[in-house]
Amino acid sequence: MTGRCPTIFVRPVLAVVAACLALLAAGPLMAAGDGRAPKSPGFSFQGPFGTYDRAELQRGFQVYQEVCATCHALKYFAFRNLRSIGFDEMQAKAIAAQYEVTDGPDEEGEMFERPAVLADYMPAPFANDNAARAANNGSLPPDLSLIVKARAGGEDYVFSLLTGYEDPPADVELGEGMSYNPYYDGSQIAMPPPLVEDGVEYADGTKASVERMARDVTTFLTWAAEPEMEARKRMGIKVMTFLVLLTVLLYMVKRKVWRDVH
Ligand code: HEC
Repeated sequence: MTGRCPTIFVRPVLAVVAACLALLAAGPLMAAGDGRAPKSPGFSFQGPFGTYDRAELQRGFQVYQEVCATCHALKYFAFRNLRSIGFDEMQAKAIAAQYEVTDGPDEEGEMFERPAVLADYMPAPFANDNAARAANNGSLPPDLSLIVKARAGGEDYVFSLLTGYEDPPADVELGEGMSYNPYYDGSQIAMPPPLVEDGVEYADGTKASVERMARDVTTFLTWAAEPEMEARKRMGIKVMTFLVLLTVLLYMVKRKVWRDVH
């Protein structure tokens, strides 16, 4: 009997070790992919005290509107959100009114088009995914509402992708309609370089370099994915201040209570 005991224990242990080894071996397959490590240009909203720059957000929205919106939807973005990035009510209403949305049914049971109001969401550029693929050489331009959170590298990755187009090396043969971008997994992307020098004329007169537009639209998309970031950081700072004060207070109380005990 005693002789069998160890095997009873050894087997499950071996099984766990084997499972761990298998997971370790699978690790590289599950890792982020083979794109080049993203650049870190540094954004105003990074770090524990970082906030979104309102001018960058507004310019970023303009880049999305004039460039990216041709192919990419932003389905969680409602026109009322324009108020949070510093537009006043009149401006937000005027921007919304540039878009048509489908409403209805009316009294005859028909759907109809009307100009968007603040409560509406940004209309998508394509009726459905198949239409989007058909217009983009078979590839689907993803919705950009949460893209910054959905990719390893977050804002650094999106910025690097937008500014990272290069001529392909001699030994790389590009597929039809593909562009070379080393930051993208596999380096071949179905999105043609979206940003060109002076591609937009900024409402605030800023010079629209590719880097400037990439920075602005990335800031805007980060805000779209995490609009509550500033409130979250403010709360964090309050909580930390409270904890530090509490620690000092408790230390003083402890000194007082134990003063006479030797
Ligand atoms: C002409 C259409 C078109 C325009 C304009 C365009 N994109 Fe894209 N985008 C695509 C397509 C297609 C894909 C999918 C790429 C693929 O699957 O290879 C894509 C993919 C992406 C991705 C995801 C990459 C990944 O890791 O999967 C991001 C981020 C992105 N685009 C951002 C932008 C931004 C920001 C703009 C505006 C500055 C923009 N795109 C403008 C067509 C476009």
